[in-house]
Amino acid sequence: MSLNNDVSEVVRHATHTPWVAENLWLLYRHDVDTYRHSCRVGIRSVELGILDGVEKQTYALLAVCGLLHDIGKTSVPSKYLNKNGPLTPDEQEVMDRHPLRGFMLLKSDHRVPPEVLRSVVSHHTWQRRRYPDNVPALAGISREIAQIVALADSYDALTSERAYKKALPHEKAIDILRAQYTGEPRLLERAERLEPLVKMH
Ligand SMILES: [Fe+2]
Ligand SMILES: [Fe+2]
Repeated sequence: MSLNNDVSEVVRHATHTPWVAENLWLLYRHDVDTYRHSCRVGIRSVELGILDGVEKQTYALLAVCGLLHDIGKTSVPSKYLNKNGPLTPDEQEVMDRHPLRGFMLLKSDHRVPPEVLRSVVSHHTWQRRRYPDNVPALAGISREIAQIVALADSYDALTSERAYKKALPHEKAIDILRAQYTGEPRLLERAERLEPLVKMH
């Protein structure tokens, strides 16, 4: 499987799962930029998973975990999501709640795999901010996929242009992650091999 085209196909297929499509539609309607970021994180999660040697049957799950990791941002006003400047403490508090809000949104839907819940609730945990990773409902669920999604998320946040920031080149993003990333070092080595994405519209 080539990184880029074939991975995009895995992600496109994942978006056709009805419950995934329903949630992506919510995200799209709420904030298009976050939706686009989520699509890229779906792709990067599968790429990192392949580079890390995960089994082929896990690709689709990785795609879904990446696609929906930020579903909790539907509870954050888009003016905060796209603010061109630092958030106030109150705004930051609302922003910081998005992993838990996403978890609350999906947890009672029996169609949602537990790996998705873990990816949603813990994708910022390595940044050591006020994010929970010890939700009782997730005891026993592997952190492996969530760790991949978390790194895919941070890599995309650095290498993509957003309303409030320019995109960094791959090498600069890796330098920053080398200095700041507190997660699984092996995954950071995998991220070093990521290549630019074909531009999405
Ligand atoms: Fe997030
Ligand atoms: Fe994200």
